[in-house]
Amino acid sequence: MKRVISLLLIAILALTGCGSTGSVKESQAETSGQTTAEQTTSEDTALEEDASSKDDNDASAASQDSADSDASSDILVIYFSRTGEQYTVGVIEKGNTAIVAEMIAEQTGANLFEVLPEDDHYPMTYDALTDVAKQEQAEKARPAYAGELPDLSAYDTIFVGAPVWWGDWPMIMYTVFESNDFSGKTLVPFSTHEGSGLSGFDKKLENACPGATVEKGLAVRGNDAQNAQEKVRDSVSDWLSELGF
Ligand SMILES: Cc1cc2nc3c(=O)[nH]c(=O)nc-3n(C[C@H](O)[C@H](O)[C@H](O)COP(=O)(O)O)c2cc1C
Repeated sequence: MKRVISLLLIAILALTGCGSTGSVKESQAETSGQTTAEQTTSEDTALEEDASSKDDNDASAASQDSADSDASSDILVIYFSRTGEQYTVGVIEKGNTAIVAEMIAEQTGANLFEVLPEDDHYPMTYDALTDVAKQEQAEKARPAYAGELPDLSAYDTIFVGAPVWWGDWPMIMYTVFESNDFSGKTLVPFSTHEGSGLSGFDKKLENACPGATVEKGLAVRGNDAQNAQEKVRDSVSDWLSELGF
């Protein structure tokens, strides 16, 4: 009888042991399956995040590109700016005025329109550029810009910015002012410069755009736009608050 019981016990233990080993394997398999599932899920999430951040990027690129097509804001920033060699900052990849224009757009949700020359005859070296700009000013040239402004009926407030060139707006900006109807709009000028400040951009804008209301402008040092962006972001923000944005 003892022998029978012993044999039965051995058989039970053996069976239980097998079961337990099987269950560990299963549990490992489940765990590893779960981990894989979790990893897959978190990878999917990361991919979704990547995709959504890509969408965000696409959206922001689209919002810039679409400035001339669909108005997602009733505020527009029109600006002209040059890369290449600029005064005190060396060779730059993003223009000083472009940096300020983007800050305004960031803080107000405005759409951006960059004024680009139809025929980009502007030299990339500073001295040569100053010569061309001086000649354009002397001739009161009206260089053509590429494309068309967005439908202005969609915009109430339009920020307008450019570098000071020889104490004035670059002549291409007068082409923009004179070939579009800004009457009834609120225009807000801004400049980047290396000492001349706003250079009368406000009065000149008022004269060039009859019927528009011109608000207080902002002048930013080009060098600060490149090298002291927090400071510039704060001045932009203070100025926008003063204007009621
Ligand atoms: C053709 C030319 C003329 C300039 N004239 C003046 C000027 O009269 N007063 C001034 O303070 N800065 C002047 N500057 C400096 C620019 O206004 C300054 O570097 C500006 O931030 C350049 O902006 P951007 O990178 O957006 O083109 C001149 C620069 C150039 C290229």
